[in-house]
This record gives sequence, C-alpha cells and structure tokens, in this order.
Amino acid sequence: MDASDMGADLKKVLLSADDISTRLAEMAAQVDEDYADKDVLLVGVLKGAALVMADFVRALHLPAQMDWMAVSSYGSGTKSSGVVRIIKDLDTDLTGRHVLVVEDIIDSGLTLSWLVANLSSRGAASVEVLALLRKPDAAKVHVDVRYTGFEIPDEFVVGYGLDYAEHYRGLPFVGTLAPHVYES
Ligand code: IMP
Ligand code: MG
Repeated sequence: MDASDMGADLKKVLLSADDISTRLAEMAAQVDEDYADKDVLLVGVLKGAALVMADFVRALHLPAQMDWMAVSSYGSGTKSSGVVRIIKDLDTDLTGRHVLVVEDIIDSGLTLSWLVANLSSRGAASVEVLALLRKPDAAKVHVDVRYTGFEIPDEFVVGYGLDYAEHYRGLPFVGTLAPHVYES
C-alpha cells in the first residue's frame, strides 16, 4: 500500500519511509551500544509495533530475542479509553531479563504506563521503552521513554503499523488522514 492507493483520504505525509529508516538505524546503534553486554528481549506491542519491530530488529547488530504482547486500550475511535486488557500475553519468562518494549506511538501514555508496571512486576532486571512516535500529551505521563523516534503534533496519524479502524497499517510512511475519513 502506498500514497497513491489512498487518494483523497491522505492529508499529508508526516514522515517518509526514508525518514523512518534513517531514524531507526540511529536508534538501533544506540541500543547496540547500551545493551552491548546484555541479552536484550524486545517486546513488541501488537499490532501497531509490528512494522517498527520488523525494521528495528534488522537494523540491530545484537542477537536480540523477540516476543509479542497484544493489549487493548482503544476502541475503533481515536481516543484512549484508559482500560487496558491483555489480548495475547508473552511466551517468555521475564525473570532477570532486560526488556525493551517496542511501541509504535505514545499518546496519553496510559497503555504504556500500565504495561511497564505489569512487565516490571514479573521480575525483569530492567524494563525500558522504545517508541517510534510520541505525541505532546505523553509529556504529562510519568513513564520514561528511553528511545523516541520522533515527536509529532497532536494529530491522529496512520501508517507504518498505525491504523484507523484497522485500516492503513501497511503504509510505508506515517501520515495524517483527511477529516472526511473519520467524520463520516
Ligand atoms: P495511549 O494509551 O493513549 O498512549 O495510546 C496508545 C495506543 O493508541 C498506541 O499504541 C496506538 O495503538 C494507539 N494510538 C494512539 N495515537 C494514535 C494515532 O494517532 N493513530 C493511530 N493509533 C494511535
Ligand atoms: Mg500500540
């Protein structure tokens, strides 16, 4: 899927595929350095982080392990409900593990603060967060995001894993939707 498949539904490309891969390579270099002597477990948050994870893990030099969790804090609308539910849990025992949560976007931060507390309570040696995108509201939440790709304006975005009503996850870039898509 690309911009040409979206027609009038695409308002603007915010981050191109090149912007994203350049930034992910920088973040991977940093993570390689920070975890050089550690066995890192990447925990991807489905479904949004699938594309970030796929490209990030290939940019890493470390032989990182990967696991996945699916949580839900969203309906099909555009605002966080604050209610987090585990849809799919990890297969990995976190005891003594260095966990790096890989997220698509931090908006209210509600999902993330719940997730970090949940993973920390399982006996992990460390729990850090890498997020491709961060919206301004995230500043209000007391969760440390150790690695942030891009700070973006407070607009609803789609693409590169992010959806609107489960659509547009396959876009290779991050863009904003034309209002007629979510107002109809
Ligand atoms: P939070 O709990 O408000 O931080 O929301 C976290 C989750 O909401 C993210 O992992 C996304 O799945 C979703 N989300 C937040 N903002 C957007 C957006 O602009 N577009 C698509 N999904 C979003
Ligand atoms: Mg998500």
